[in-house]
Amino acid sequence: MKVLVIGAGNMGLTYAEGMSKSKLLKKKNIMVLDKSEEKLDELNKISHFDAYKEFKDCVPKADIIFIAVKPYHAEDLFKTIKDLVNPKQIIISIMAGVSIASIKTLTGVPKVVRAMPNLPAQIGKGLTSYVITPEVTETELLAIKTLLNTTGKSLRVGNEKLIDASTGISGSGPAYVFYFIQSMMEAALKMGFSKEDSTLLVGQTFEGAIALFNQSDLSPNSWMERVASKGGTTRAALDSMEDNNVNELIKEAAFAAFNRAIELGKEYQNV
Ligand SMILES: NC(=O)c1ccc[n+]([C@@H]2O[C@H](COP(=O)([O-])OP(=O)(O)OC[C@H]3O[C@@H](n4cnc5c(N)ncnc54)[C@H](OP(=O)(O)O)[C@@H]3O)[C@@H](O)[C@H]2O)c1
Repeated sequence: MKVLVIGAGNMGLTYAEGMSKSKLLKKKNIMVLDKSEEKLDELNKISHFDAYKEFKDCVPKADIIFIAVKPYHAEDLFKTIKDLVNPKQIIISIMAGVSIASIKTLTGVPKVVRAMPNLPAQIGKGLTSYVITPEVTETELLAIKTLLNTTGKSLRVGNEKLIDASTGISGSGPAYVFYFIQSMMEAALKMGFSKEDSTLLVGQTFEGAIALFNQSDLSPNSWMERVASKGGTTRAALDSMEDNNVNELIKEAAFAAFNRAIELGKEYQNV
């Protein structure tokens, strides 16, 4: 299997590195293309994959074309590759808001995967949700899943609306966690801890809580009950959050991202 990654930015390189580190593909089977000379110079210094500038030299050779350019570059890119692609190839797109219908129409390729990764992919802890077109075979699906899992875990969803929904949960979600971390660090600083100590206190607390959650079948509510005793300190904090409606506000924030993903999809519907 030969994979071509188009767009060697943050995400494109993350996936190319992931594929290379996983030993899933040999160097000669990972091709990376970027339009900027500066990027190509950098890529040529990295030895685990082959860098390309010309589409005609790499697009026809690929079994899977992984598109990681910004959505506003999609239309130009599709025009460029339309005459170089063939219906046996698979396009995996991680471009936010660019629909499967646009990709199919503008490239003529029926086998399409629309995926939504998230930032922790950079350290192999990502979550990529994805949806496939019916033309993708079971064997190809297995290869796609293996490829996406090189940057963490993946979740196949049944329709594109759930890709927008996962944008509101896992796609934008790391920022919500950072928001919570920031607030707790500010509280720690106010209580008198140094920045370094605040970072340790909060970072290790998140890491520990998430490890507990991931290693058990207990719900977050059950874990909260285990920490919070009646009249105790944790109960005081949780009551304060309930009184301030924090639960509803977090849900509202996730829906704001979901709705924005739908809006962006409309903006790019003619891409
Ligand atoms: N970053 C995230 O956490 C995240 C999460 C989910 C989805 N995504 C999606 O991932 C995609 C990539 O995001 P990113 O943050 O990695 O972007 P990025 O860092 O800007 O990388 C895109 C790269 O593609 C290059 N490029 C643009 N048009 C091209 C073309 N026609 N042919 C070849 N290369 C081209 C860009 O070059 P120039 O800089 O010269 O334009 C740039 O090097 C986006 O569509 C985004 O929606 C990102």
